[in-house]
Amino acid sequence: MNNYNLQKKNFFTINKKSDSIINVKNSTDNLSNSLKLLYPIIPQSKMICVEVGSFEGEGSIIINNYLCNNNDSKLYCIDPFDDEYVKGNEKMSFWDSECKGQLDRFRNNTKNFSKIIECKEISDTMIPKLEENNIDFAYIDGDHSPEQVYKDAVNIFKKMKIGGIILFDDYLWEINGMKTKIGIDKFLDEYIGKYKLLFKNYQLAISII
Ligand SMILES: C[S@@+](CC[C@H](N)C(=O)[O-])C[C@H]1O[C@@H](n2cnc3c(N)ncnc32)[C@H](O)[C@@H]1O
Repeated sequence: MNNYNLQKKNFFTINKKSDSIINVKNSTDNLSNSLKLLYPIIPQSKMICVEVGSFEGEGSIIINNYLCNNNDSKLYCIDPFDDEYVKGNEKMSFWDSECKGQLDRFRNNTKNFSKIIECKEISDTMIPKLEENNIDFAYIDGDHSPEQVYKDAVNIFKKMKIGGIILFDDYLWEINGMKTKIGIDKFLDEYIGKYKLLFKNYQLAISII
């Protein structure tokens, strides 16, 4: 993966025999660290969470374990899980081989987590189905093209509660001339006054005001 300048995203190692996670390494340090910063006190109240782009479920499990402690909490994991990173996008095909078999691995990795809800769809069709003003936390980590990350941000914004938090992964990611930042910055410019910037680093977080 490092050949493709994926920066801090070191995807976790899969045990090919059992198809389970054997070595989490530092792959989701960003997510774990961001959650600790955003929620210094581990939430015990009902949390409705969304992850756009769930891949094999490592991030899903981290979000579940940190935020979904209440019995009524839920985590919607939105991903087409279709063995390609971004269907039909040649610029993203470099990662297709990693995505082969991702649905089986996601199911296997998350099968013991009852609050995780598999949503096997692209974000464009799934986010609109979610209830308005209902989301406490959203993690945007799907198709990293500026156009799609912008759309994901706009769509998820409508679903967020006041005080809810959107965390964007890979703000500084760049590949084949595509910069995720461009889409996130476009959203931030257009929605200025409607959110508070919490931090901007390799990940970026806002809360809805
Ligand atoms: C970087 S991985 C996600 C990693 C995961 N969040 C984690 O922390 O373990 C990106 C995922 O986005 C998915 N994806 C690509 N386009 C998408 C879209 N339009 N909607 C939802 N997910 C998408 C891919 O299938 C891939 O599994």
